[in-house]
Amino acid sequence: MAVGVFDSGLGGLTVLDAVSKRLPDVPFVYFGDNSHAPYGVRDADDVYNLTTAAVERLWDAGCDLVILACNTASAAALRRMQESWIPKDKRVLGVFVPLIEAMTERNWGDNSPPREVAVQHVALFATPATVRSRAFQRELAFRAIGVDVEAQACGGLVDAIEEGDMILADALVRSHVDALKRKMPTPEAAILGCTHYPLMHDVFQEALGETVKVYSQANLVAESLADYLTRHPHMVGPGTESQFLTTGTPEKVSMHATQFLKREIKFQAA
Ligand code: DGL
Repeated sequence: MAVGVFDSGLGGLTVLDAVSKRLPDVPFVYFGDNSHAPYGVRDADDVYNLTTAAVERLWDAGCDLVILACNTASAAALRRMQESWIPKDKRVLGVFVPLIEAMTERNWGDNSPPREVAVQHVALFATPATVRSRAFQRELAFRAIGVDVEAQACGGLVDAIEEGDMILADALVRSHVDALKRKMPTPEAAILGCTHYPLMHDVFQEALGETVKVYSQANLVAESLADYLTRHPHMVGPGTESQFLTTGTPEKVSMHATQFLKREIKFQAA
């Protein structure tokens, strides 16, 4: 009875926290590929190879369903995995679609033609690989018309968060928001399109100004997973134990994770 949650590092913990609060009876196995983070500066083949290796490890841990709590992997590898790699009895879901459905005022799986929506100017903050993939714009175009998206690749931010250097992370958020505002002075909404960024939510909100609605994924993914499991209860795999696995140094990763989630988290070697 376990579901896998994958990220390149610590960012997916923002999703893990929300899904485990929403579904307290489901054991979750978290896999952080900390020794290979950040993914956002890697090419698509590299992200694909690392992501598939991590997902296989989660299958071995008894998780038939794996959430890619990583936008970079969702953008650069998920489609290729779904087309040719995932066996029939397993599922891998990304984190993009629930957020875009929320922004475009749609219910889960509403595939009606694109239409006008309330927001017209959207700022997207994401990793260089996610921005380069244009996956967000592609998913949005299926659902909405007339939305102007300005993307800002937030170089360096994932590294700073992984290292626990919050002073640098704070400065980077402010300079990326400034750069975005030079291109789009008055966005109505902003998307934190990397699961690491909600750890800096308050700094983004302050730098953007309180009139900008900041969307992040954790709660949206939790709702959509709860909905998915109601419709596909057999997709909770045979694993029974919650675990935290890392390819990094377990002590260091545990220390940063405990600091971020404000509860004790103990990682073990993957
Ligand atoms: N949390 C990952 C994401 O959502 C970070 C990617 C990275 O490692 O650069 O994109």
